[in-house]
Amino acid sequence: MALLNILNYPDKRLHKIAKPVDKVDAEVRRLMDDMLETMYKAPGIGLAAPQVGELKRVIVIDLAREDEKPQPLRMANPELIAVSDEDAVYNEGCLSLPEHYADVTRPAAIKVRYLDHENEIRELEADGLLATCIQHEMDHLEGILFVDHLTALKRNMILRKLLKAKKSQQPVSA
Ligand code: NI
Repeated sequence: MALLNILNYPDKRLHKIAKPVDKVDAEVRRLMDDMLETMYKAPGIGLAAPQVGELKRVIVIDLAREDEKPQPLRMANPELIAVSDEDAVYNEGCLSLPEHYADVTRPAAIKVRYLDHENEIRELEADGLLATCIQHEMDHLEGILFVDHLTALKRNMILRKLLKAKKSQQPVSA
């Protein structure tokens, strides 16, 4: 297992569309495990392959709290096959936009079909935080970040804060 580098907004690579994997083989399984290790270390509850510079339709999620047994979900080629009419609002964050949060509205419940780490087709019904997290990670596969769901005004506010933070971290040159 290895720790991977997480790309930060506004890196252009975060806006590319990821390609499906042919099958979940040893290489994809390794990517999933490296992504999980990277996500736990961050720490975060979800990570998508494009965030570590791999344009593959692979996501990992674990909503277990620190004092709970890990419950990793490894998904390749996830597809939404049903969404509820009812919406839910969550205050979302993203490992590619550290320390920024905003309310995002999404379908409250979903049904997703995917390939698991053993290349088996699975279906999962989810609601609550899991439904939100799966949709957030699947957005990354389309090159969409949670800030893309906000108004331009709100998005620019976050972007300006990010750029300011970056500037102040640079060493002074003389
Ligand atoms: Ni994210």
